Order: sequence, then structure tokens, then C-alpha cells
Amino acid sequence: MPGKRVLVTGAAGFIGSHTVDRLIADGHSVLGVDDLSTGSEANLQSVSRESRFEFKAADVAEAKEIHSIVESFQPESIIHLAALVSVPRAESEPALNYRLNIQATQEICEAARSHQVRRIVFASSAAVYGECSDLPLAESAPTIPLGQYGSAKRISEQLLAGYHASYGIETVCFRYFNVYGPRQDPASPYSGVVSIFGDRYRAGKPVVIFGDGSQSRDFVYVGDVATANTLASTLESPTSGTFNCCTGISTSLLDLIDVLNERFPGVPKPGHEAARPGDIRHSLGDPSAITAALGFTPSTPFATGLRSLLDV
Ligand SMILES: NC(=O)c1ccc[n+]([C@@H]2O[C@H](COP(=O)([O-])OP(=O)(O)OC[C@H]3O[C@@H](n4cnc5c(N)ncnc54)[C@H](O)[C@@H]3O)[C@@H](O)[C@H]2O)c1
Repeated sequence: MPGKRVLVTGAAGFIGSHTVDRLIADGHSVLGVDDLSTGSEANLQSVSRESRFEFKAADVAEAKEIHSIVESFQPESIIHLAALVSVPRAESEPALNYRLNIQATQEICEAARSHQVRRIVFASSAAVYGECSDLPLAESAPTIPLGQYGSAKRISEQLLAGYHASYGIETVCFRYFNVYGPRQDPASPYSGVVSIFGDRYRAGKPVVIFGDGSQSRDFVYVGDVATANTLASTLESPTSGTFNCCTGISTSLLDLIDVLNERFPGVPKPGHEAARPGDIRHSLGDPSAITAALGFTPSTPFATGLRSLLDV
């Protein structure tokens, strides 16, 4: 199968850079676009000398810029990952959330329509479900987002559905659950708990658990997410739909602490503070739809993924 031309927005970020690595390893040609607001070119080091990879620093919410990039690169697919990823910032700056998490999706859709891009793969989030107690969550579960970020992801999904219905652009929305792995910035207070805790244990410092630690998440390894993105953007057969990108396996914070304690036995025991109001207690997805549609199941066991994060 000849390689495809894939444009990746948010390419210098955590999920974006792993997705670029995977696309290049599979023989595709990639244009990575990023404004480097939270991402870093250092994440793209392994592909920087690769002739099938190009990088362009640009703001994806700028219509003119994104149109001219799509026009000149002529991708077969766009993987749209660039976003305002900080949930607290989306709450405190709703206009910025609108620009980056809704308007940018619209610009990507319009550029795809104008320049005959066959397919868009979009980074949605489990945040579209809000706090739903009927676990594991299937894609048919009600979507009642708890704030600006989840609401914007849901609106973007619907924008994409409209472009699919009106213009036949194939659209794949992945609702990522809790993605973890190397290159997730542990310095950010909004980063995933796995990278923050992993970083502290490596430095020999204790962590603080809000609540009793029984809260649980569906942690999905970034390498598996990169595989899903690569598959969805390069499959020959027509592919559209909205899919959970998750493992279907529940891991509590105490499970995470157990693995970390075993690996770093000298680190003092975690402290506990009161649970934070608004924190979702349990989150778990049902991965059967993505498996049926793409023949894909995230396969990295949590202990293996965690090891690769701690070994970096
Ligand atoms: N990490 C997770 O657990 C998770 C879960 C659900 C959804 N997501 C979604 O996955 C996507 C990637 O997230 P991530 O965890 O890799 O975060 P990240 O911050 O590492 O990546 C986002 C990238 O987008 C870039 N960017 C931001 N605004 C831009 C703009 N206007 N123009 C161009 N580039 C811009 C940033 O510089 C960064 O490199 C996001 O859409 C996020 O909402 C992530």
C-alpha cells in the first residue's frame, strides 16, 4: 500500500508527536503543524531529519493560514489534535476555548472541504460524557459535559458530523479517555496524574492524593492512541464515526501507587487531602465499537506502559 499524505495539527504535543512517529514509521508522509504553545519541537527530534516529514509553525485557528497549508500540502487526511487542553483555562477563558476548541475545528473542516481532503480524524474526549454513572460508557451514553472544554469537544464532533452529512467528508471522532506515556509534560499542573505522580516518585518525593484514592480512570497508553490515529487516517475503506479510545479496564489511584511503590520503595507514603469538589470519581469506557470498526484494541498493559514512562 503506498504511503498517504497526512497533516497532523498539534504535532509537537504529547499525542501528536507519538502519532507523527507512528505515521512516519509506517511509511506515510506527514506535515506537522503546531504553534508551540504547549508543545515543543524537541518532541519531534526522532523525525526531524526524515525526508517524509515537514514541520510548520502556525496557528490552526487562523483561517487563511490553515487554508494555504492544506492547499499546498494536499493531504488525504487531517488528524486534528491542536487544542486548548487545559480544562481550568477553558473555564476561565471561554472565548479562547471557543477559538481553539470550536472555531479551529470549523476552519479545519472548511479547509478540508475547499481542498478535497478525504478524511478528518478529530481528538475528542471522554469529557463529552460528563459525570455518567452507568459504566462502562458506550458511545450511545448521554453527553452532558460538565464545562466549557467538554462542551466545545461535543460541538466540534457535531460540526464534523455536519460536514460528513453535507459534503461527504469522512470524519472520525475519537473520545480519548486518560492518555498517559512519555512526553506528557509533568510540569503542567493540568497534566495527567500518571505523569505527575511518576515524576515525583522518580525524584524521591511523596505525592498527595485527593480523597481516599479509590477514584478510578481508564488509562490508555499513548502508543496505542498513536496506532488508532494512524489506522483511522490511513485506512483504504470508507471510515467514519465516533468511537471511544480506551481500554475498558479500570485502574484506581491506589493501583497506580502500588506499582510506583514497588518500583521506588524508598519514597515516603502518599499524603491525603480532602477530595476536590467537581472531580469525577470513576471513568471507564467501552472499547467494543472501535474494535469492531477499525479492528483495533489498545493492547499495552498498564504496568508496561507505566514502565516505559518511568524509564525515559
Ligand atoms: N492527553 C489526554 O489524556 C487527552 C484526553 C482527551 C482528549 N485529548 C485531546 O487530545 C489532543 C492532544 O492533546 P495532548 O494531550 O497531546 O496535549 P498537548 O498540549 O501536548 O498537545 C496539543 C498541541 O496543540 C498545540 N496547539 C495548541 N493551540 C494551537 C493552535 N492554535 N495552533 C496550532 N497548534 C496549537 C500545542 O502547542 C500542543 O503541541 C487535544 O485535542 C486534547 O484535547 C487529550
